[in-house]
Amino acid sequence: MKFEDIKGFAFDLDGVIADSARLHAKAWHQTADEVHSEWTPELAEALKGVSRMDSLEMILKAGGHENDYTEDEKVALATEKNTKYLKLVESLTPDDVLPGMKAFLDELKASGYKMSVASASKNAPAILKQLKITDYFEGVVDPAKLHAGKPDPEIFSLAAGVMDLAPEVVAGLEDSGAGIKSINAAGELSIGIGNQLTEADVRFADTSDVSLAAIKDKLA
Ligand code: BG6
Ligand code: MG
Repeated sequence: MKFEDIKGFAFDLDGVIADSARLHAKAWHQTADEVHSEWTPELAEALKGVSRMDSLEMILKAGGHENDYTEDEKVALATEKNTKYLKLVESLTPDDVLPGMKAFLDELKASGYKMSVASASKNAPAILKQLKITDYFEGVVDPAKLHAGKPDPEIFSLAAGVMDLAPEVVAGLEDSGAGIKSINAAGELSIGIGNQLTEADVRFADTSDVSLAAIKDKLA
């Protein structure tokens, strides 16, 4: 995709706009300890972008415990994690927008780009509100309505629809491997936050490096 083709940006939230990926990880780490699955950096990375129940399944599987819990017990574990996460999230303020991202959102708004949110998190609207950035976006895809989560393209396809744009003119931003796969499969330009995201069309080491000029440079 050429830089000039881009008309809108679909954003993942946790780890791209909000400094909340570490809070998800902290809460899941406690769940892993509770079910006696080893918490490793690889597991933490693999959980990024993955829905709440699928994350729990992956944690149980990591310790070989996938058949040790009933459906009701699994729902209770996931609910307990979410309660812990929401407790951690209470402390988030507008200062917890990741470095450079508020300036990037302002730059996009001033330049007339459309924006939408493609987060697997059911808590996304609450976090946007807490960070006071809800109004930047045309809308937020409701992950409860998805048939399949990331890496399936559905969420990023819907995020283009929210902006009334074709996928070919949309760039998606992600900090997870599953998310980059979703963007690529949706036929959008993938922008990865993190050098480990080798499948991204464009990569930045850190959110503070993201700007329209930097994206243009990398696409040239
Ligand atoms: C994603 C996070 O954005 O949302 C995952 O990267 C999280 O870590 C997922 O599990 C679902 O979030 P929630 O808030 O609905 O449990
Ligand atoms: Mg993320």
